[in-house]
Amino acid sequence: MPVRLGDDAPDFEAQTTQGPIRFHEWKGNSWAILFSHPKDFTPVCTTELGAVAKLKGEFEKRNTKVIGLSVDPVESHVKWEQDIADVTGARVNFPMIADSDRKVALMYDMIHPNASETFTVRSVFVIGPDNKVKLTLTYPASTGRNFAEVLRVLDSVQLTATHSVATPADWQDGEDVIIVPAVSDEDAKKRFPKGFVAKKPYLRVTPQPNR
Ligand code: BEZ
Repeated sequence: MPVRLGDDAPDFEAQTTQGPIRFHEWKGNSWAILFSHPKDFTPVCTTELGAVAKLKGEFEKRNTKVIGLSVDPVESHVKWEQDIADVTGARVNFPMIADSDRKVALMYDMIHPNASETFTVRSVFVIGPDNKVKLTLTYPASTGRNFAEVLRVLDSVQLTATHSVATPADWQDGEDVIIVPAVSDEDAKKRFPKGFVAKKPYLRVTPQPNR
């Protein structure tokens, strides 16, 4: 079964490079990013894990824990981490799930048989403090992810979780946002004291409310 937006993120027990975990317990009340890789000792994945390790501070600022997954054993992950450090200059500073039996991959629908029968695709799940799935992304094995985009969507889902706003195309943190149509103009005047501009009756723009 696919794991879709708004679903409960399935809980699981797994071996990781930082010891055994139960996912929900490990995550606690934080936000979390669970992301999968096709295979250890592969080139694109090597660059991705280094890139995520370098962003640790950015994820921490957003109260977000990061956990990776691939369908190889812990010993393999640990050996590979040395290569990642050699190539990218960054030590992997988050747990990597060793999903050799594909239990978690199948639970989260990370194996897309028409892409590969054996390897996981590049999935990203953003999971909220309430353990609900807030965002999913799927990339093919041949395309490395843009982790600046992952931070950008994290900013959007965190903002829109607590304010009645949506973010426009290509929005970046700090830019104007859109008041959701369910809020009346009268209500919007109260909720958004910085004011708003109605470009159309259904497209009202206001400065980012948490700035
Ligand atoms: C890679 O990470 O480089 C990769 C993995 C599987 C297939 C193609 C590329």
